[in-house]
Order: sequence, then structure tokens, then C-alpha cells
Amino acid sequence: MDSLEINKIVAGLLVVVLIIIGITNFAEILYHVEQPKVAHYVIEGVDDTDMAEATDEPVAAPVEVPILTLLASANFDKGAKVFRKCSSCHVAIKDGANKIGPGLWEVVNKDKGVVDGFSYSSALVNHGGKWSYEELNGFLKNPKKYIEGTKMSFAGLKKATDRANVILYLRSLSDNPAPLE
Ligand code: HEC
Repeated sequence: MDSLEINKIVAGLLVVVLIIIGITNFAEILYHVEQPKVAHYVIEGVDDTDMAEATDEPVAAPVEVPILTLLASANFDKGAKVFRKCSSCHVAIKDGANKIGPGLWEVVNKDKGVVDGFSYSSALVNHGGKWSYEELNGFLKNPKKYIEGTKMSFAGLKKATDRANVILYLRSLSDNPAPLE
């Protein structure tokens, strides 16, 4: 085989490679599908601060949905599940004993810090007022921020739907549940 023949073979191979590359590019041009841009949907009532941390996109301030609106579509069974996070410290039955936290029977619309035999922080007692749905929502989102100095060592429920579900559950801890309005 002389060098001219080798050159021909190499040139032939090159042409084949070039043709293959050409076909693939051409096919890509023909069939190129525009990838949909991932949109950032804001779902009402869902706290999306985690997503905000994960992307650099500017995210609109999360809209606070009123707790009564969320309660209208809250799920009792899911609330009972969320309450498992509370049950290491709270009992949910009538005349239930105080544990690390006070018993939560009849807590909705009750004055703050009045369960017999429980030694509350002065921060909670001084906060005053009743445990309305709104106040429970604020407290359960971030207890230490809502009542600075509270003894409740609980990080809080970041998801608005978790709070609505557990508040619906708390409402049921009563002989005469508070109206949903
Ligand atoms: C690590 C223990 C702990 C966990 C977990 C916990 N709590 Fe508490 N909770 C406390 C303590 C302690 C207090 C009393 C706070 C104070 O005196 O400042 C309290 C107070 C409260 C109060 C006020 C009661 C009153 O009589 O004024 C409510 C309502 C409440 N907790 C609800 C919840 C719910 C709902 C959860 C779960 C989502 C939860 N807690 C999880 C320890 C806990």
C-alpha cells in the first residue's frame, strides 16, 4: 500500500465522519424542540421560602392566605398526623395531664396560659389575649418569634397547610368546637 492509497483511505474516513456529523446536526436542527422554561408558580398558602433559597430568581413575597380561608379546605386526618409532632409534649384529651407542655383540650379561643397546674413562661402569660385561629397560626409558624421568650422549644410549622390542618385538629379537642368563621 503506497502513501497515496493510505491518504485516500484517510480522506474517505474523514468524509464519512463529516457526513455523520452533518446528519446529526441537521437532524437536531429539524427536530430541535424548545425546552419549556421552568416557570415559578406561586401556590397559594404554600410557603415557598425553600424554593426561594434554591434559586437566584427574584421571588415575589409569599402571599399570606388568611387562616380561615385555609381552614375551609383543611384536612382533619392530616392534622391528626401533624399533631404527632406535638404529642411528645402535649396531651390532646379532656382533663389530660400536663407534660412538657400544657394539655391542649379546649385550646381554641381560650385565654392564653390558663391551664391549671402548668407553669408557663411569663412571656406567654404576658402576651395575653385568647388563642384565636389567627394567633395559633402565628404562634405555630414560629413560636419563638411570635412570643419571644416562650418555653415552647419547637421550631414551628413552616407550611401554611400543615398549620391549617393541625389547627382544624386542635379545634376538635372540645365538647363544643369553635365555629369556623
Ligand atoms: C418540645 C415540646 C413541645 C412541642 C414539640 C410542642 N409544644 Fe406547644 N408548648 C410547649 C411548652 C413548654 C408550652 C408552654 C410555653 C410557655 O409557657 O411559654 C407550650 C405551649 C403551647 C400552646 C399554648 C397553650 C396555652 O395553654 O396557652 C399551644 C397552643 C401549643 N403549645 C401548641 C402546640 C402544637 C399545636 C404543637 C405541634 C405543632 C406544639 N405545641 C409542639 C412545648 C411543646
